[in-house]
Amino acid sequence: MALEKKPRVMSGMRPTGGLHLGHLVGVLTQWRDYCESAEAYFEIADLHAYTTGFENPQAIRDARNEMVAVWLAAGVDPEKATIFLQSAVPEISELHVLLSMVTPVSWLERVPTYKGQIEALGAEIATYGFLGYPLLQLCDIAVVRGERVPVGRDQVAHLEFAREVVRRFNHLYGEGDDVLVEPQPTLSEFPEVPGTDGRKMSKSYDNAILIADDEATTTQRIRTMFTDPQKLRKGDPGRPEICPVFALWKLVPQAALERIAAECRSGALGCVADKAAFAEALNAYLAPVRERYRLFRSDPGEVERIIAEGTARTRMVAGEVLADVKRAMKLL
Ligand code: TRP
Repeated sequence: MALEKKPRVMSGMRPTGGLHLGHLVGVLTQWRDYCESAEAYFEIADLHAYTTGFENPQAIRDARNEMVAVWLAAGVDPEKATIFLQSAVPEISELHVLLSMVTPVSWLERVPTYKGQIEALGAEIATYGFLGYPLLQLCDIAVVRGERVPVGRDQVAHLEFAREVVRRFNHLYGEGDDVLVEPQPTLSEFPEVPGTDGRKMSKSYDNAILIADDEATTTQRIRTMFTDPQKLRKGDPGRPEICPVFALWKLVPQAALERIAAECRSGALGCVADKAAFAEALNAYLAPVRERYRLFRSDPGEVERIIAEGTARTRMVAGEVLADVKRAMKLL
């Protein structure tokens, strides 16, 4: 029987700390599954974190192991996938300089996150490095020959830009062959996870349920959640379709969604009781993840060993890709 070649999957996350339920169900369960179905590379994008967080390097450093502990707790298997540290793969930075020679500044300025983030965070972040953010992202992917890139919708424009640069590079230097692969985004099927106030769950909105939180904190957070504003007391009919608590219930495997929705609509179920039941169900669902998280947090040496091993493996592939690129550019 012929062995089917697994696709090369690559993705990354900036180490900014505070991974939450949204990361777990929206991203990390997918990453866990890719450990089986793909040849997967997952990157700690610490250089990318400096594009907006350069004033606080210690926070980036502290977030590194914490973030990887959550990945591992979520089931990302370091025996099957390769976890690596961006800044420790110098081939990425070298590739960035080389590809910058053929990347028009206008293409970078046109990427919507560029102007959007400057509007949101202020002109101080408009550094040369920040402008190059999507190019650096392409280098992360290209250096391991990533074909599929699981990302959120907000990253699709970066991948479009990346494919344009790859096409230009291959056209200029490929001599009929593709030196670099055009990476394709794979969108997660999960809808946006709402936070406790109904907006998108995000640590910066202070509305998140963190993996690192304990059960009491989670229960307290859920107690303060927004619900249907027209349902003031038990007995009032509620609208589960607009209730953030109900949206989060959908993330809990085997939750009795139909019964909860019916009892909310009829008024038989009040918000206080619903939140208490939800807090219990969510804490039970998160318990094994949190337990593994605590184990990895208590063993930073093990996390660092996993990162170092994955980084060494990545550098072997990266060296070959970089050599191909340099050969194509007549530098070797
Ligand atoms: N830009 C991505 C984000 O903010 C993080 C990232 C960095 C990434 N390098 C990557 C994602 C390479 C996919 C592939 O979510």
